[in-house]
Amino acid sequence: MNYLTAGRADKHKLYETSVQSADTEVEFMDRVFVERFGRTPQYLREDFCGTALMCKEWVEKRESNHAIGIDLDESTLQWGKENNLNPIGAAAQRVSLICDNVLNVTDPSTEIIAATNFSWWGFHDRKVLKQYFMSSLNSLVDQGMLMLDIFGGPEAQVVQFEEREYDGFTYIWDQDKFNPITHSYKCNIHFRFPDDSKMENAFQYDWRIWTIPETRDLLLESGFKEVVIYWEGTDQDGNPNGNFQPCGAGDLAPAWVAYIVAFK
Ligand SMILES: C[S@@+](CC[C@H](N)C(=O)[O-])C[C@H]1O[C@@H](n2cnc3c(N)ncnc32)[C@H](O)[C@@H]1O
Repeated sequence: MNYLTAGRADKHKLYETSVQSADTEVEFMDRVFVERFGRTPQYLREDFCGTALMCKEWVEKRESNHAIGIDLDESTLQWGKENNLNPIGAAAQRVSLICDNVLNVTDPSTEIIAATNFSWWGFHDRKVLKQYFMSSLNSLVDQGMLMLDIFGGPEAQVVQFEEREYDGFTYIWDQDKFNPITHSYKCNIHFRFPDDSKMENAFQYDWRIWTIPETRDLLLESGFKEVVIYWEGTDQDGNPNGNFQPCGAGDLAPAWVAYIVAFK
């Protein structure tokens, strides 16, 4: 009886395994920052940090690295402390977690702010998203950058389920509702287990699908100096290869994920 079931599984563990790529995102931010500013970054703020997995990866990368994680949800932060930070010992002292709305926090300044897994799509209103971008700009040191991920393509706007198999469970991405007029987008994550038990609506999102051009315009309007889109390359068979490079004209993939980096 050591297989996972809905009753025994931990939803945060399942999420980290099936959704997050914090290690590759840390490598990406490090590379982009060094290419732009010619120095190694040390101070990261992870917005919407959830279990603070990226903070953990960041402080483990270099002894001089420090991270701040911000999230509204105290119980998720607590899970992150117990499962991601306590196990790394002394390095955890270089992580501070703040339970607050990202819109309220501007201190202390950092060199990088990261908002991943589309959490910034929780801001439906242009004025509020602009407030977030301006507050991020004010929270960055003079040579700093904000990194956002974004997805799109025709398949993003279709009501559908997508399943992926992992060791011991199935991840189910449920694109439940999309309103083409407001771009309001309701999605859920479910998990299914070998005994057919199911963890329904383990995570639920009420997002607005923002597009790259409108996001870029708003970042520039908010005061960022330059906004660069990093688009994923493809291998010989045309499959995404995990290598994100600056790009002005993306290919017409049915579904894509890209990074938007706004430089101060
Ligand atoms: C999709 S999870 C992101 C977790 C993780 N950072 C990742 O990349 O997968 C979204 C998290 O954002 C938090 N959140 C939503 N709105 C927020 C806000 N305005 N300020 C701070 N945290 C927020 C939620 O509590 C939740 O833990």
